[in-house]
Amino acid sequence: METTAPWEHGSEFAWVPPLGNSYPKAALPANAVLYGNGRQALAAALLEGKKRRGWRRCYVPSYICQSVVDAVHAADLECVPYPDLPVAQPDLDCNGLRPSDCVLIVNYFGWRSWQFSQLIRTTPAGIIEDHTHDPWSAWASNSVADFCIVSLRKILPLPDGGAVWSPAGYSIDPPSVEEPDHQRAALQKLVGMLIKDQYLQGINTDKNLFRCFQTEGESLFTPLPLSSPLKITPYLLERFPWDQWRNKRAANVEYLATRLREIKHIDILNPSPTTETCSFGVVIRCPTESVRDRLRQYLIERNIYPAVLWPKHPHMMSDPRATEFSKRILFFHADFRYSEADLDRVVQAVHEFFRC
Ligand SMILES: Cc1ncc(COP(=O)(O)O)c(C=O)c1O
Repeated sequence: METTAPWEHGSEFAWVPPLGNSYPKAALPANAVLYGNGRQALAAALLEGKKRRGWRRCYVPSYICQSVVDAVHAADLECVPYPDLPVAQPDLDCNGLRPSDCVLIVNYFGWRSWQFSQLIRTTPAGIIEDHTHDPWSAWASNSVADFCIVSLRKILPLPDGGAVWSPAGYSIDPPSVEEPDHQRAALQKLVGMLIKDQYLQGINTDKNLFRCFQTEGESLFTPLPLSSPLKITPYLLERFPWDQWRNKRAANVEYLATRLREIKHIDILNPSPTTETCSFGVVIRCPTESVRDRLRQYLIERNIYPAVLWPKHPHMMSDPRATEFSKRILFFHADFRYSEADLDRVVQAVHEFFRC
């Protein structure tokens, strides 16, 4: 009997086999230090800044995910929101910044450039840049921030992993151990990736099995204690053709964004591509929250899993424009996993929803 492998789009990575040998180009700067996840990388940068520069207060964009806010609290710094979101300019009174402050600057969806960071450089405050959505942009490569951080597992098929490096030259103490609680969480993520790969090959058909490992593992990630990632993470990182995947992502994003622009009911928020940036994916804005929620549900029923990056939480609620944005957007993955035929299926489903 012929069986067809299940198809799905979006959501978390399945296991992707590494190359047989190290990839000739390193994915990260030589002074990058690996941690268990992105929030630990941020907490580590904040703790270094606290120790070396006396940082006590961290300005955090209003539009950000909860785990970043958790990391600031875990490092025991005051977390002060400043208005910023992907479709606006940051709004922060630079005159009020002191040497005991640091500013977290986020390259949303890989769309931003270094101008705001340059402005903060003219103040006494420290700078941490979050390059999770495009660790390889011209901005990240030429950064002069005190610290750059990334969550590697968001952009590469890794079970865990975050990184910090200091363009300003601060040395960063690497975590000494794989903390058992982190290890337990990350191993669940790894099992989830392996089973998802089997599922996508049509070998096992129980989707709940890998979903349980993924969600349980995810819920166990914490900003502290600082931990090394699983040993397999640096092994994989050395063996992934990250720049080829980035090129594929750039092409996929353009393809998907162009095709989705055919649909009049939604706005495609991606800016025009440049040679120096690469979008994390395609972001659409729906006319209302209710349309967004119904579209998402319609797509989920067709095995398409766009994300809400990010759902609202108390920190975000300091800025009405950020919460309004969060209510109406959907993020579509367009990374190296997908062919144009996969993306066509996504576009077709969005078309069908608006025709119903
Ligand atoms: C931009 C950004 N930075 C940092 C993080 C934290 O990364 P992690 O979930 O690996 O702790 C996230 C998580 O969603 C993120 O989206």
